[in-house]
Amino acid sequence: MVRSRDPRWGDLQWAGCADSRRLVCGIGYTVAMPTTVRPFPYLSTARLRLRAPDMDDAEAFGVLLSLPEVTRYSNIPDSPTMAGRMMRSMAKLHASRKGCAWIIADAASGVLVGAIRFNRVDRRWRVGEVGYECHPNFWGRGLMTEALRAVVQFGHQEFRLNRIEAWTLPDNPASDRVLEKAGFQYEGTLRQKAHFKGEYHDLRIFGRTAADPMNWS
Ligand SMILES: CC(C)(COP(=O)(O)OP(=O)(O)OC[C@H]1O[C@@H](n2cnc3c(N)ncnc32)[C@H](O)[C@@H]1OP(=O)(O)O)[C@@H](O)C(=O)NCCC(=O)NCCS
Repeated sequence: MVRSRDPRWGDLQWAGCADSRRLVCGIGYTVAMPTTVRPFPYLSTARLRLRAPDMDDAEAFGVLLSLPEVTRYSNIPDSPTMAGRMMRSMAKLHASRKGCAWIIADAASGVLVGAIRFNRVDRRWRVGEVGYECHPNFWGRGLMTEALRAVVQFGHQEFRLNRIEAWTLPDNPASDRVLEKAGFQYEGTLRQKAHFKGEYHDLRIFGRTAADPMNWS
């Protein structure tokens, strides 16, 4: 387990993986990297463990996606087979180098709290798009903010992303607030940018750059 000395990183920890190639992680640490397999970036915060998705999570993730209050504000289809399909694609995302998905688990109990992803990463432009969902049993405790801050820090520092962006639907102020608390700025609304669930949707665009502060406490 690696703990950063950079005060901006708070209590974010990254568990590295062992082998011969060396990677400088955060400020002043060197961890061993495997030469063939890229280690999954397990993240740890005060209350959460962000770990690799696994098909064993499909059932609990299915319960989460069966809740209309969870899928109402996203393009995730309301389909009973969606959780399995999404879990399969989330499990492959990091290895594909096109993004990265984490299961958010309660640190003490291991219970699935939600999920968070870089849905896509453009390595040439160094841009990543985040998305997330949290089980309503855990809403309002600052947990998604905690998870997003960890992912943002990791994205800028280790994935070398310059810009991280997200979109929300106009009637989802809780998600807007989570983004603001992780240092994102509202950049404008793209009218009828998306079409899903049988209608066009305006998307509220949020973004932050590596130069933006991470001085949350
Ligand atoms: C959006 C979501 C992830 C927030 O998770 P959470 O763990 O409750 O978030 P946090 O507790 O970290 O922060 C929520 C913030 O929104 C605020 N909030 C909640 N409902 C709100 C509302 N109706 N209007 C304004 N603010 C609201 C909370 O007060 C809190 O802000 P505060 O700390 O300043 O008081 C969760 O509601 C969710 O999973 N929703 C369904 C899926 C979803 O919308 N995903 C995002 C798609 S873009």
